[in-house]
Amino acid sequence: MLRIDILTLFPEMFEGPFGSSIISRAVKKGLAELHTHNIRDYAFNKHRTVDDYPYGGGAGMVMMAEPVATCIETLQAARTYDEVIFLTPDGDLLNQSVSNELSTRENLLLLCGHYKGVDERVRELFITREISIGDYVLSGGEIAAMVLCDAIIRLIPGVLNDETSALSDSFQNQLLSPPVYTRPAVFRKLEVPPVLLSGNDKEIRKWKEDQALQRTRQRRPGLLSD
Ligand code: ADE
Repeated sequence: MLRIDILTLFPEMFEGPFGSSIISRAVKKGLAELHTHNIRDYAFNKHRTVDDYPYGGGAGMVMMAEPVATCIETLQAARTYDEVIFLTPDGDLLNQSVSNELSTRENLLLLCGHYKGVDERVRELFITREISIGDYVLSGGEIAAMVLCDAIIRLIPGVLNDETSALSDSFQNQLLSPPVYTRPAVFRKLEVPPVLLSGNDKEIRKWKEDQALQRTRQRRPGLLSD
């Protein structure tokens, strides 16, 4: 079973996304366990300080090493983590193969940064992997952590009802998905491609493959050359 521990200053942000749909179903089925930890609970003074001014000056605050370190060490005392991941725009870009790999792990720890980042020594001492969800800057790592959790958890066998559906996703074979249709067969004069109504499985499979290839060539040619 996959267990994910998330270290954040804003645990309440996770309640909505983790409380509905696929993720909550995975948790209810006992296929994944998610725990959020408030870094502020590990602050060492009575003001519960977790950030401070950057040495050398500059805008914004920096998350202090001590509370984050104490939180990580407390969790590490209870179990061994396969990866301690920091969500940050300067990390490796998340893609399907990273998601596939992480979905096979047992214990993951995710650290969400805020303000101007976390003291570099936390990264040096504890972080085994840094992941970005795209080349843009979010106001914190929380939404990135949610994206990562969703991408990973839906891949765990048994989470999706249709066992094959995660495997037929866009990117799983380095191809985008073909277009899909449902009833009615004609909508505002636009017809569903007749082959899909033909009942000919072989022709349908071929059509889907062709469409996936064509769509990938048009929209994301880089995926084909990778
Ligand atoms: N924190 C802020 N921006 C981020 C990004 N693009 N990916 C991951 N974590 C982040």
